[in-house]
Amino acid sequence: MQRVYNFSAGPAMLPEEVLKQAAEEMLDWRGTGMSVAEMSHRGKEYMSIAAEAEADLRELMAIPANYKVLFLQGGASSQFAMVPMNLFRGHKKADYLLTGSWGKKAISEAKRYGTVNVACDASAGSGKFTFAPKQGDLSLSADADYVHYTPNETIEGVSFPYIPEVGDKPLVADFSSAILSGSLDVSRYGVIYAGAQKNIGPAGLTICIVRDDLLGQTIAGTPTMFDYKTHADNESMYNTPATYAWYLAGLVFKWLKERGGIAAQAAVNTRKAEKLYAAIDSNDFYGNPVEVSSRSIMNVPFTLADAALDAAFLSEAKAAGLVTLKGHRSVGGMRASIYNAMPEAGVDALVAFMANFAKRHG
Ligand SMILES: Cc1ncc(COP(=O)(O)O)c(C=O)c1O
Repeated sequence: MQRVYNFSAGPAMLPEEVLKQAAEEMLDWRGTGMSVAEMSHRGKEYMSIAAEAEADLRELMAIPANYKVLFLQGGASSQFAMVPMNLFRGHKKADYLLTGSWGKKAISEAKRYGTVNVACDASAGSGKFTFAPKQGDLSLSADADYVHYTPNETIEGVSFPYIPEVGDKPLVADFSSAILSGSLDVSRYGVIYAGAQKNIGPAGLTICIVRDDLLGQTIAGTPTMFDYKTHADNESMYNTPATYAWYLAGLVFKWLKERGGIAAQAAVNTRKAEKLYAAIDSNDFYGNPVEVSSRSIMNVPFTLADAALDAAFLSEAKAAGLVTLKGHRSVGGMRASIYNAMPEAGVDALVAFMANFAKRHG
């Protein structure tokens, strides 16, 4: 068996220890004679798995008691609609900070339900997303029902180095590619959501952390399944949840706890990112257009000065066991996603490969 270092933006690598444990438990979970994938979500065994995963996530992120943790489906893309449906409660108006491709999608979905004020458009002028604006450059409106932003834009590798200050408005964040990567003050937020397939577990699960006071005032016509309260009132078991993905997420949370929790993981993540950016910045062969203070520690896009070498880079990297490095089709070049489960040795191997490739082709 040969495992590779998979730099995919998602679905992404899972910790090997987690996959091994899941494999061991696949046919018989703790003497039940069945796989977790075969369990009733209402049985006591599965309920214990679900509750433990939630408790571990609460502990890892220090989630205050006045927040519900929802284990949903539909991906972060469904949240682009659920957020306005649940939070357009006053003026049906919201402020959106636009720093990349996913924020753009969130905006176009929110516009179906109300008015969107783009409080900053980081692509204005250049057409490219390469930085997160400063607090002073945000044009927030007085009558917004909430403020939405994307702390880490997965495609462009643009990250906010600060939490926007939005007064008494609920702050909503798409944390899909940054959740669990570093410490976070959850109390600064109204809603935090994330698709699981990057730092949480396999695809099919979407985690949503919602402050209690934001539940129960959906806009007219909101489907029952799109109402946060439906899931909050039923411990995310109103319908059949993504049981197996939830279980695997629970194993990932245990893995993180065993490694010292988020603070310890954040130190590893910072080190991995520093090594990779240093490799990019150390020569003219590679480049990254993102302002240094806005650089993501999870998604590192980079280009080769000579794009004609892209194909050779990708195929030689693959031969060296470094896969899924092709950048998103909208930006081109390369992208190395280095989520929690990417071992530091994987980044070291990539850095060594990049130096060697540059030497041979530079
Ligand atoms: C920041 C961000 N938001 C939203 C999405 C869409 O997520 P999903 O595919 O779970 O709907 C992604 C997917 O990569 C993402 O990176």
